[in-house]
Amino acid sequence: MIPVNDLRRSFELFQDEYEEAALSVLRSGWYVLGNEVNSFETEFATSLGGSCECAGVANGLDAIMLGLKAAGIGEGDEVIVQANGYIATMLGILQCGAVPVFVEPDAYYQLDAAGIEKAVTERTKAVLVTHLYGQATRMDEILAVCDQNGLLLFEDCAQSHFAAYKGTNTGLFGTAGFFSFYPTKNLGAFGDAGAVVSKDSELIRKVKVLRNYGSDRRYHNIETGFNMRLDELQAGLLRVKLKHMPEILKNREEIAKRYLAGISNPAVSLPAIAADCTHTWYQFIIRVDKQAAFREFLKERGVATDISWEVPPYLQPCMVERFGYKTGDFPVTEELCAHIVTLPMMDYMDEAEIDTVIRAVNAYRS
Ligand SMILES: Cc1ncc(COP(=O)(O)O)c(C=O)c1O
Repeated sequence: MIPVNDLRRSFELFQDEYEEAALSVLRSGWYVLGNEVNSFETEFATSLGGSCECAGVANGLDAIMLGLKAAGIGEGDEVIVQANGYIATMLGILQCGAVPVFVEPDAYYQLDAAGIEKAVTERTKAVLVTHLYGQATRMDEILAVCDQNGLLLFEDCAQSHFAAYKGTNTGLFGTAGFFSFYPTKNLGAFGDAGAVVSKDSELIRKVKVLRNYGSDRRYHNIETGFNMRLDELQAGLLRVKLKHMPEILKNREEIAKRYLAGISNPAVSLPAIAADCTHTWYQFIIRVDKQAAFREFLKERGVATDISWEVPPYLQPCMVERFGYKTGDFPVTEELCAHIVTLPMMDYMDEAEIDTVIRAVNAYRS
């Protein structure tokens, strides 16, 4: 079976370097907040450009929560997000005491600027854009609406490392960008890891205080903080992978090009790339008429698939219970959830695997 992801093969690609980095941390005797974290923070910020700074944290959800908190988002504030986003984004907002307010996505699965104004109330404080599946969102209109309505802008870049809009990397458009380095991400660690990036040094300083018990120096606590630190081992391993990102992204692009050129089936819609946006192909999402039948057909031909996501975040039980959302509230999102399918997309896929996927998709008849 060709899997959607194969993390062991991802490790084997640069195995010697990972092992050397891990051993070096293990032998150092220093495991939390040290040279590896400092170096990764500098290297990641430099690789994004835009004179940003970075604070490494324990995972992507913590990045969202800490970044919003450090920017002053709190009790009762409303934050506009896309209805087809990921539940972790909503949890990060809720954990600050704020409330996610949903708008529908555009034809590229990204937050549709057209919906923002209608969702604004006197409690709206911010827009939190998630650049989904690896593609950057068209930011000009979103920036303009935020500007007109006095809203802060945040970006969830858990799926969009190095995806750019008009040449600027995602994460650099607003007050702060939030990254996950969950193992399956394009820049994935070997456990949980995340980061907040911002051009605002004071915000980064606050995140660093909040992630470490609210402590600005040893045994001195100025905030009721958390333990949400990035550890040395993950930072050391991320430094290895970060160096290889150009080739990783190039390989993903090659595979996407092969899929785009090779898949030809009237029952399958291919992903579209918006003008001025780059796509880093975190996931290759197609649309089909009959999702379950299509997935079963591919499975029988040895191709695993996935759905991101079958149930939108506002219909998750925890959200329905709290806010009373119901099926039909966001029809564009629900239509998407019923028809999208994730194909295998691994930068280490071989020719035969790519061909097998293309052949299986082309053989499907609805
Ligand atoms: C869009 C999005 N936001 C947030 C997260 C949460 O990141 P993490 O799993 O590191 O907490 C993820 C990934 O899992 C994600 O895809």
